[in-house]
Amino acid sequence: MKSTEFVLASGNRGKLQEISDMLGPLGLVVHPQSDWSVPEAEEVAPTFIENALAKARNAARYTGLASLADDSGLVVPSLNGEPGIYSARYAGAGADDRSNINKLLAALEQHTGTERRAYFYCAMVLVSMADDPAPLMTTARWHGRILRSPRGEGGFGYDPVFAVRGSQCSAAELEPEHKHRISHRGQALRELVAQLREQAGTC
Ligand code: IMP
Repeated sequence: MKSTEFVLASGNRGKLQEISDMLGPLGLVVHPQSDWSVPEAEEVAPTFIENALAKARNAARYTGLASLADDSGLVVPSLNGEPGIYSARYAGAGADDRSNINKLLAALEQHTGTERRAYFYCAMVLVSMADDPAPLMTTARWHGRILRSPRGEGGFGYDPVFAVRGSQCSAAELEPEHKHRISHRGQALRELVAQLREQAGTC
């Protein structure tokens, strides 16, 4: 594997697609950790950044390769930060996107106006090896509000109920390139690539 290739410490197809879309044009290639049958890291820490670091170290330890991790989720301040780090399993272990969305809409049923504000959060970590003492780390937020019912067919996760700030569109109605330009993941990844370039001198 060349130095511009990384293991992606995630089994989430939506993330793999988005990250590959964004890194591909830069000549950077990501391979899913499932290619090496890496077991999922335990996500037991209370913050996205700690969980991203644990995932990146886990994938690097099993593959011996540089590893990129994204720990992300939806934060709704009026629900005390839910679903937060539990976004993928909000409706229970193994929950699908539809049941997570249904639980969120039910929790917000009586909420109006600013109480429906929410943001996506992304913590992105790149380790060059499992015990890398100086990982590259970035975080970003994407602000919006939660709709009353799903709209659009694109994206993944909570995209159909996330209305982009200043627009009537849901994230699932955006063209992929548009989402990449403004999303939490797009912002965090661009900052990470800038750090990588600075560290490498060039890439
Ligand atoms: P993780 O794999 O533990 O980081 O969980 C991430 C979860 O957060 C996903 O399964 C989605 O439910 C949600 N999520 C993260 N990013 C996005 C996004 O860009 N759109 C919609 N949902 C997202």
